[in-house]
Amino acid sequence: MNQVIQNILTRRSIRGYKEEQISNTDLEIIIEAAKYAPSGGNSQSWNFTVLQNKDKLEELNNLIREAFQNMLVDDDTYSSKKSGKVAARNNEYNFYYHAPTLIIVSNDRKYSNAMADSAVALENIFLASHSIGLGSCWINQIAWFCDEPKIRKLLNACGIPENYVVCGAAAVGYSSMNEIKHTSRKKIVVNII
Ligand SMILES: Cc1cc2nc3c(=O)[nH]c(=O)nc-3n(C[C@H](O)[C@H](O)[C@H](O)COP(=O)(O)O)c2cc1C
Repeated sequence: MNQVIQNILTRRSIRGYKEEQISNTDLEIIIEAAKYAPSGGNSQSWNFTVLQNKDKLEELNNLIREAFQNMLVDDDTYSSKKSGKVAARNNEYNFYYHAPTLIIVSNDRKYSNAMADSAVALENIFLASHSIGLGSCWINQIAWFCDEPKIRKLLNACGIPENYVVCGAAAVGYSSMNEIKHTSRKKIVVNII
């Protein structure tokens, strides 16, 4: 099996990180890989915001916890949001698993391919990270709450324009997980005609 396929098949979401920061060289490799993702009409309209400042990350974590507290749930609420609300009641809750680096991917809220483009960029971030020995995980909470006034203020202060929505984020760092859970793949319908 070639190395690219091997890298795709062995990447897993990492939910525990060492404190050690990633190197600037590794960060550059990861961002370069993100930039080379495909984008609709080659628009490349995404923004990558790298948060490594511990105080800023903690501040964001507190605001996310507050947003969960204020979030109303009903039967139609996405199950991960419901479980997030419960988990966020715990003082130990940390939505980015204490990763030293959080890469926020945002895109023009009026652009119809905003999410698709950002998702392929995120996958490049995950695969590039894995290929250089770093763990990563998709983090959705900022996307859910990016228009909550206090969170929006923090994001704007980090350079994310008002007309940009957060589509997703990537926690990146050295894994502290002793055992990585191998999520099995479901029997997916594949029709070859
Ligand atoms: C759109 C999307 C949102 C996700 N959001 C989160 C998240 O907020 N937190 C998290 O721990 N994992 C999140 N994940 C990771 C999935 O839970 C994970 O990819 C899935 O369980 C399969 O595991 P694997 O990545 O190890 O193969 C997300 C994945 C995707 C594609």
